[in-house]
Amino acid sequence: MTSLFFLVLLSSPLLTRNVEANPNYREALSKSLLFFQGQRSGRLPRDQQVSWRASSGLSDGSTAHVDLTGGYYDAGDNIKFNFPMAFTTTMLSWSTLEYGKRMGPELKNARESIRWGTDYLLKCARATPGKLYVGVGDPNVDHKCWERPEDMDTPRTVYSVSSSNPGSDVAAETAAALAAASMVFRKADPKYSRLLLATAKNVMQFAIQYRGAYSDSLSSSVCPFYCSYSGYKDELMWGAAWLLRATNNPYYENLIKSLGGGDQPDIFSWDNKYAGAYVLLSRRALLNKDSNFEQYKQAAENFMCKILPNSPSSSTQYTQGGLMYKLPQSNLQYVTAITFLLTTYAKYMKSTKHTFTCGNSVIVPDALISVSKQQVDYILGENPIKMSYMVGFGRSFPKRIHHRASSLPSHALLSKPLGCNGGFQSFYSQNPNPNVLTGAIVGGPNQSDGYPDQRDDYSHSEPATYINAAFVGPLAYFAAGRSA
Ligand SMILES: *[C@@H]1O[C@H](CO)[C@@H](O)[C@H](O)[C@H]1NC(C)=O
Repeated sequence: MTSLFFLVLLSSPLLTRNVEANPNYREALSKSLLFFQGQRSGRLPRDQQVSWRASSGLSDGSTAHVDLTGGYYDAGDNIKFNFPMAFTTTMLSWSTLEYGKRMGPELKNARESIRWGTDYLLKCARATPGKLYVGVGDPNVDHKCWERPEDMDTPRTVYSVSSSNPGSDVAAETAAALAAASMVFRKADPKYSRLLLATAKNVMQFAIQYRGAYSDSLSSSVCPFYCSYSGYKDELMWGAAWLLRATNNPYYENLIKSLGGGDQPDIFSWDNKYAGAYVLLSRRALLNKDSNFEQYKQAAENFMCKILPNSPSSSTQYTQGGLMYKLPQSNLQYVTAITFLLTTYAKYMKSTKHTFTCGNSVIVPDALISVSKQQVDYILGENPIKMSYMVGFGRSFPKRIHHRASSLPSHALLSKPLGCNGGFQSFYSQNPNPNVLTGAIVGGPNQSDGYPDQRDDYSHSEPATYINAAFVGPLAYFAAGRSA
């Protein structure tokens, strides 16, 4: 009697919490992928479901006499920045490689979201020999206007890097995206996969041969928007790591070795890829038992020890409500990217029955999973203000996101061009956005778990492709249940 009583007493709070807490991860996974349709540039296909969007940027590339239509707008504006777009595509591909089996019917949509990125990146890499196109649209002019992508009238300037204006960061990230995607399509579309891999190798060669930061070559056209603050060595390591996984060619292993050790950051983002490279390379140490990669496994575990809340070497802040808090601007991008690494490292640990230590604490995979689940649940509405940070998910979600197309009347309803300034009335209005950008994850709450929901507060209210891309993996993990 007594023991049963205790069992009930001890376990009931846990049980109640689980029943209330588990959000519908399948629905969230589906919406997280649908979001990418809302960010599409180029000619939209017949099966486009986000119907308030229309074709846009149809002459992109024409000033350079090449076809650079397609790809994604990075966030709430109308610019195609290839550096974060390539990272987005890499993370969507990594999500699909690790968790594709758990995606069920969403696997098809995940592949489509990748292909929309790679079709464009292939054009950028193949249009002109000796050049890699790295963006379309003048960001400084675009940011002065508030207009729909469907009728924008701002200069669609084309940016590129070359041997005389190198960009090893953007090139190696593009190579990473193409190499990762080549594995996604290996069985589903072998011909496409071969094209992706061949192009990835060429672009990586360019990144290695002509070393330099694209921020030096393109300055105010990419900075401060997507300046490569961390330098390009992290991208060289990351790009080489992806090519190594795609080819198993020792050439890339030697390249990684030649780069020497890397930084030990406590962050992972479109700018800083070291932690991602360490986790990716530690897969070889764990799954392939290749002792040459032991140092990257160490580095990956050092990273985890900087993230886990109870670790002696933790350098990561958490809000009172339990959200990882890295930086005030678009904090959720770091949360989703790091959550991806936690989940994925736990997955590698589970399949090899591996544990590690942070100081004197032994870390088992479920310790990583529990932090990861806490972050996913927080984003989906389990937080002090019960706000889901995914648009269109749950009872309460952001209504005034910083996003031109979502905040302005649909081109389908009002086809008259709005002009550069025609949209500012909508921008300053307190009305909810007329078009719901379903699945978009915004920059997120502030340090006190509060969310102002104001369109001009872009640090918190702007969605971005890379926030979502890294979230797809953990959502697929939890959507399939926690058994495997
Ligand atoms: C966080 O957001 C809430 C809601 O808008 C606001 O009241 C609070 O002052 C903000 N806190 C910080 C630290 O910015």
